[in-house]
Amino acid sequence: MSLTIDSAFNDLSNHHSRLADAEMREMFKSDPDRFGQFSLKLDDLALDYSKNLIDESAFNALIDLAKAANVEARRDAMWAGEHINSTEDRAVMHMALRFQGDQPVMVDGKDVMPDVREVLANMRTFANAIRSGDIKGATGQKITDVVNIGIGGSDLGPAMVCNALRPYIDAGITPHFVSNVDGADIADTLAQLQPETTLVLVASKTFTTDETMTNANTARKWLVDALGDAAVKDHFAALSTNLDACADFGIAQDRIFGFWDWVGGRYSVWSAIGLPVMLAIGPDQFDEFLAGAYEMDQHFLTAPLAENMPVIMAVLGVWYRNVWGHATHAVLPYDQRMNRFAAYLQQQDMESNGKSVQLNGEKVSRKTGPIVWGEPGTNGQHAFYQLIHQGTDIIPVDFLVAAQAHDNLPEHHQKLVANCFAQSEALMLGKSAEQVVAELKEQGLSNAEIKALTPHKVFEGNRPSNTLIYAKMTPKMLGKLIALYEHKVFVQGAIWNINSFDQWGVELGKQLAKAILPKVKDAKAESQHDGSTEGLLAQFHAWRD
Ligand code: F6P
Repeated sequence: MSLTIDSAFNDLSNHHSRLADAEMREMFKSDPDRFGQFSLKLDDLALDYSKNLIDESAFNALIDLAKAANVEARRDAMWAGEHINSTEDRAVMHMALRFQGDQPVMVDGKDVMPDVREVLANMRTFANAIRSGDIKGATGQKITDVVNIGIGGSDLGPAMVCNALRPYIDAGITPHFVSNVDGADIADTLAQLQPETTLVLVASKTFTTDETMTNANTARKWLVDALGDAAVKDHFAALSTNLDACADFGIAQDRIFGFWDWVGGRYSVWSAIGLPVMLAIGPDQFDEFLAGAYEMDQHFLTAPLAENMPVIMAVLGVWYRNVWGHATHAVLPYDQRMNRFAAYLQQQDMESNGKSVQLNGEKVSRKTGPIVWGEPGTNGQHAFYQLIHQGTDIIPVDFLVAAQAHDNLPEHHQKLVANCFAQSEALMLGKSAEQVVAELKEQGLSNAEIKALTPHKVFEGNRPSNTLIYAKMTPKMLGKLIALYEHKVFVQGAIWNINSFDQWGVELGKQLAKAILPKVKDAKAESQHDGSTEGLLAQFHAWRD
């Protein structure tokens, strides 16, 4: 198999040599149907990938790479419940959480759908009762604020989704998210809230994560100080796979919403971890969110590779990461409410594919996951876009934009869309020295001024981007988009032959923090760290008092 992959990569190197000096602007001139050829529409979502450094034969070679990597067989193994998360010996079945079909979905010989649907039904009952005020706080007041305490996958997904779908928050429930062990996070959040009207969700797959348990204990004390111990059962709920630990924390049985070890933390927004979303936007809209992801799953599971949106985005990413050698990938939503989308994708992509060994434990022979980053446009245009346009590194970009806005401010949305399209056009077309000279002449500059300024004003162009355009940012659309990126990451992991579903790389820091904590607490504690760490500890204690 590795030979086949190697020969597919060799083939791609040849295409790279052939296209190294190719100009996208010329490709568009010579092929009026380039957009038609390199775009794909799935109902109300379209991907324009025509502004990439590909032609038909390079694209076919990229699809051949996906074939060589057995992407389809790996995808089917995931959906069949095989333990593709080999280092944790687990199935990877987040698609079951949004499955809308009648067929059983088997994991370890058991149909998981009855349990999935039971938890969803319990979440629905609870969310409806909180939203309507049928379930009240201990003092009889309606719950108006929900504080989700979690970190990583138990925070980023629901926080991002609640932000992106703010126009759908409709029942007077305001979601808040506390993740950082920095006391500033919980202190600033609780300072705005009344215990009587607050529901705290402790969200943790393992229910052992130090940051989350520390914040949960602080929130518990805040509540007990105001309302007494007996109020905990009315003001706390838990979202976890560790049901016993939830009960030990004092959470009432009917407020523990479970999920399963085959749901990775960064793939868990579709599970009980989505409860803050359901509380905010309501169960029906949450169902729409799941339905959108299901539609993308069906597309991913059935469309031929060359017409498969996640596969296309994945192979283009591999093309730039491995063949052109570009290290980073920017995700730039033209949607202010998507301002946590890149942060969310950072965990989804970088925790999944930031790996250096293959499934068999051997070192990888190629670069793996890119550095993912981004901010919403147009803000980014006035910050880091300079480097994307004229810097020495090429940064492949995904632009995202909706045709319809939620806010009745058409002038704003027209300008937003114009800016989004203009950026991808500018990156692709660039501006030649001749164009610059003509512009400067027009402005009446002297020859000497023109000569001095021209090199600074030239844009090389030929810089690649995808644009995802959709009718409107709805719960369903967001579900589709998140699932799209999940599957893209999966395909890339399959091509790199890595386990995209473990995260051992986060462990060492956790272990060392535990070992350093006693010395942080007490300057006199025994410690034998490296010279730098000991120096920092000494400085900390010198300034602490
Ligand atoms: O940072 C590592 C990690 O395990 C993530 O994968 C996970 O999303 C996060 O910590 C939180 O874990 P838990 O939900 O178990 O508290």
